[in-house]
Amino acid sequence: TRLAILISGRGSNMAALVYASRADDCPYEPVLVTGNKPDAPGLYLAEAEGVATARLDGKSAAFWDDLDKALRDHEVEMIALAGFMRIIPDQFIARWTGQIVNIHPSLLPKYKGIGTHKAAIEAGDTVTGATVHLVIPELDSGEILGQVEVAIMHGDTPDTLADRVLIAEHQLYPQVLSRYLGRKSDPEWLLDKVRSLAL
Ligand code: GRF
Repeated sequence: TRLAILISGRGSNMAALVYASRADDCPYEPVLVTGNKPDAPGLYLAEAEGVATARLDGKSAAFWDDLDKALRDHEVEMIALAGFMRIIPDQFIARWTGQIVNIHPSLLPKYKGIGTHKAAIEAGDTVTGATVHLVIPELDSGEILGQVEVAIMHGDTPDTLADRVLIAEHQLYPQVLSRYLGRKSDPEWLLDKVRSLAL
């Protein structure tokens, strides 16, 4: 599966997806790294790893059309958001239904949007984590594909917690994406889908 990874910043989750793709049995191939920040540090990292990039200007009125074109030019089949900090217009999501996944640093449905670690600490939670989910128009609300739990320790700040959750994200994202893409040919998964039609 030809994968595009969309970033806005440092791109450590992007790097984790790229490194994991080098395993022989990985069902996806990163063919494009792009996003809304033409000078995002992660774009340099992607280039150093030999993955094509497109430096698009998120402030341009044509941004979403430019992005769509870049994705089609690279014959992208699946899009992974990895620290992509723009709300995606419904119309764009509709064009790529079921083909966009995101990683979010909380145990969804808890703490949608930004500020997840601060919210979890302030709520007195002892466990938080990260979630990989399908992207639908409603923010951070699509089908959950996989989660990992991370303990909140006494004395954690949003920054120390973010660091610990990030390490878990790097393992979770490639694992869940590979399982999601791989399972399309998995007879058990197909049977489940057929059963869920409840005919
Ligand atoms: C990650 O914590 C991701 O879950 C959140 O933004 C952060 C991106 O980090 N949405 P990176 O750019 O992948 O290093």
